[in-house]
Amino acid sequence: MDQKAPKRYRILVLDGLSPKGVELLAGEPRLEVTNSPTLNPVDLQQTIGDYDGVIVRSATKITADILEHAQRVRLLCRAGIGVDNIDLDAATSKGIVVMNSPGGNVVTTAEHTLSMLLSLSRNIPQAVLAMRAGRWERKKFTGVEVYRKVLGVIGLGRIGSVVARLALGIGMQVIGYDPYISREKVESLGIEVVSFEEVLRRCDYLTLHTPMTEETRSLIGAKELAQMKQGVRIINCARGGLVNEAALLEGLQSGKVAGAALDVFEQEPPPPAHPLVNHPAVICTPHLGAATEEAQDRIAVDVAQQMIDFFLHGQIRNAVNVPSIDAESFQRIKPFLALAEKLGRFQAQLAEGGVQEVSIQYSGEVAGYDTKWISLTLLNGVLTTFLGDTVNVVNAGVVARNRGIRIVESSSSEAEDYTSLITVTITTDVGAHTMSGTILGKRDERIILIDGYRIEVVPQGHLLIVRNEDQPGVIGRLGTILGRNGLNIGGMHLGRLAPHGQAMCILAVDSPVPQSVINEILQYPPFISVNAVTL
Ligand code: NAD
Ligand code: MLT
Repeated sequence: MDQKAPKRYRILVLDGLSPKGVELLAGEPRLEVTNSPTLNPVDLQQTIGDYDGVIVRSATKITADILEHAQRVRLLCRAGIGVDNIDLDAATSKGIVVMNSPGGNVVTTAEHTLSMLLSLSRNIPQAVLAMRAGRWERKKFTGVEVYRKVLGVIGLGRIGSVVARLALGIGMQVIGYDPYISREKVESLGIEVVSFEEVLRRCDYLTLHTPMTEETRSLIGAKELAQMKQGVRIINCARGGLVNEAALLEGLQSGKVAGAALDVFEQEPPPPAHPLVNHPAVICTPHLGAATEEAQDRIAVDVAQQMIDFFLHGQIRNAVNVPSIDAESFQRIKPFLALAEKLGRFQAQLAEGGVQEVSIQYSGEVAGYDTKWISLTLLNGVLTTFLGDTVNVVNAGVVARNRGIRIVESSSSEAEDYTSLITVTITTDVGAHTMSGTILGKRDERIILIDGYRIEVVPQGHLLIVRNEDQPGVIGRLGTILGRNGLNIGGMHLGRLAPHGQAMCILAVDSPVPQSVINEILQYPPFISVNAVTL
């Protein structure tokens, strides 16, 4: 028997991922793994097109130019948290899912932050250097206690909240600011939540744990430093540039800032003779926050598992450019994904003129599900009809936005006679069509309403959608024309708004209906419109 061999996927692993992750991938017979710890950008550009999935740590920059050659890549995984070495917009536009691995290095980075805070307070690195140079300088390196000092934490996400917990454990008082996190959750950790300005005013130590965004770039600059206590100490183990380096240097020179501990820099590695690296009150590490054996093993295993789940089980976790969905929710929405895709393709084939708006209404049970993927799948169905396979569910939202198409979503708990209903209206510069679909039983797709006509159609194969005046003999004429052209009718569905008004007839035919046959039908006055749709 001719059985199709299961599809195999080619995975490129860069930047020296920990062997635990590489081994996990290599253990999957359907994955072909290439481990290239030191591939340069030119070689990467030449070879990336051979792969379905790519894993990077922080060294490789996945630029728009490189992505131009990544015609086959569907998944890019960043082993670590920050995806700043990947051009996210370019990846999304090309329909590539980008994932990170946010859990594996949280504790490690928080521990590094605490190590930096304590080392800074006791001048440990400076004392080591002095001893190596033969000096025994006990007075010079007298430090300060951290006990009962106020630590201000900006950004109370995964790492910031662990830093806060560790700092509370050594007797510090912790205040924090994060406008995007629930106050109750943070306060339950023993952190006093205050405004940004109050953190600045009250803290003896300031530590930053936000992502680098347009909003957070230079979050601490000259103006913010001016509001802080004389002799404040600053720790940055998040991203270079959250603290403005020029302002920090000035603060150190004026004595406003007593010391700084930096793991990250605006430019990495910083240029030789960087004034902060060489400042006596600054201690620094070369972006070592996540650099422990445990964290690197965890991250490698996490990204490898995410790759496996994506290619072999269709699961998306920790995606940063599309909604993530767990296996259970995915199973629940699966029948609706297939229906949504067909609703989109059906509607797009009926539409005339440029699409201006796609409006999707979820009614009944489906309204309670995670509908983001259903909407993206529907949109993908619409757009691939016009644009071909350059569109997929990852870039459908971006492509729609770039073309000025509005997406409107709404939901209601009522679905008339059905358990769940998806209703789509596509508005073009010529007019609008509305269509509703449902799932009968577990996975039987049905279109049940088209532009006000109640008509139950299985959305598959070749369909001919005919609008006509409701007169005797019309259906017979339709059958004659199709028969004369060798087109076999497999099914027929009728709907009308009122007797002797307008009617709709949908024929399921065994082969595509050529335009010449449509033109022939339209020669007869009772026929108002004829559209051929293939699903
Ligand atoms: P996270 O997403 O869990 O938390 C970030 C928090 O910052 C969120 O709660 C968010 O609400 C908050 N935030 C965003 N904008 C803010 C603003 N303007 N003011 C205050 N809070 C704001 O991220 P995470 O995993 O905790 O990582 C934090 C940072 O640490 C990231 O920049 C990450 O790249 C970096 N990181 C560095 C290393 C290292 O090696 N040094 C290792 C891991 C992570
Ligand atoms: C991260 O974003 O995960 C950290 O900065 C660590 C790293 O880049 O390796």
